Amino acid sequence: MLRSVQRLLVTADASKLSYLSARCYSVGTDFEAAQKNLKKLSEEPDVQMKLKIYSLFKQATQGDVTGSRPGMMDFAGRAKYDAWNGVKGTPKETAQQLYIDLVNSLIKEEEKLTAESQSNVEGLGGVNGLSISVEDNVFRIKLNRPEKFNALTWDMYRGITEALNFASKDKKTRVTVISAAGNYFCSGNDLSNFAVKRPEDVKELAEAGEKVLNAYVKAYIDHDKPLIGLINGPAIGISVTVLGLFDAVVASDKATFHTPFTSLGQSAEGCSSFTFPLLMGHAKAADVLLFGKKLSAHEALERNLVSEVVPDKTFAAEAEKRVFAYSQLPPESLRLNKVLVRDINRAALHKANDLECKLLVERWQSAECAAALQKFMTRKSK
Ligand code: COA
Repeated sequence: MLRSVQRLLVTADASKLSYLSARCYSVGTDFEAAQKNLKKLSEEPDVQMKLKIYSLFKQATQGDVTGSRPGMMDFAGRAKYDAWNGVKGTPKETAQQLYIDLVNSLIKEEEKLTAESQSNVEGLGGVNGLSISVEDNVFRIKLNRPEKFNALTWDMYRGITEALNFASKDKKTRVTVISAAGNYFCSGNDLSNFAVKRPEDVKELAEAGEKVLNAYVKAYIDHDKPLIGLINGPAIGISVTVLGLFDAVVASDKATFHTPFTSLGQSAEGCSSFTFPLLMGHAKAADVLLFGKKLSAHEALERNLVSEVVPDKTFAAEAEKRVFAYSQLPPESLRLNKVLVRDINRAALHKANDLECKLLVERWQSAECAAALQKFMTRKSK
């Protein structure tokens, strides 16, 4: 790019010069507009995206990275340095254009999400990343953030909690279904939920996170209707651990089940410390919760985590058949039986939820967890 600009200047005739200055002017104004538009996003981009934006901004305004790489303990400074260093050699005008394209793509993505994330349920608002609907006797909660493999943001946690509590009391529906858009079921907790500007904010964020998580899992424990999970693809973290609180789990044979808590410096949630040993026996539960064994759909069936595995080709149709059949059963009998089955362990489940959340607040503030999150966030900028 730089060479072609120089060549143009050397051989410039009037039209080439005016084209060049018009183009530079246009990129310059678009660059300023992109900086303003970035501030208008309703949701802050995740850490990885912020690093991409940062690196392009620095390259566009200052050129190649200067100074030396910050030390080990300066996580944020080091990540920023690495990101900027990653675009070294990119001419300033190209970096400006890349910055503009990136901001425009974020704005488009947000517009698309807002359009797709809706609720047709009176009394329940829409939440980015979720589609909530009532169809016949069925209350549907669909994870709808496929570009991030349906990772759960704080808003999605709150939205699902509210939807489950609403569905529990809803007189029009008989069963509640949780499903997902795209190839993944859910990649678990959005790891940028714990991104903080200052290390001293971690404690506050962890305590706020505990409240959100506790209410989220409580909504599953106290859900008064049969809860059906349709697991279309890989499931990670909390999307796996809460499965012990469902009444039917239909999985595609392409689904996998992974809880890599230990390697992330975290600990189990979703009442899995109680439900998994009950479902699988202690050794097999430890295999999954402590040692992070990833289960295939058939292994999950063999360990009682799912109730049925269906070939991927016919998954959508077969799953809907089950949902239809369950939703035709007498509603009062369904609800009373659900409450009866849950009451046997309800108190123990609440206790497990409280203990798990308490431990997680500690784990989220640990150096092991910070290092694992840092590794994930910066994996693409190296
Ligand atoms: N939190 C935040 N973002 C996530 C995410 C998560 N849990 N899982 C996936 N994403 C995002 C990625 O950042 C990426 O976004 P980008 O395109 O804007 O960079 C996008 O989803 C696709 O993921 P990517 O990592 O590029 O795809 P992959 O096929 O190489 O790997 C996973 C997929 C799921 C294996 C990988 O993303 C991963 O390990 N995610 C973390 C899972 C996890 O540990 N969850 C918490 C359990 S406690």
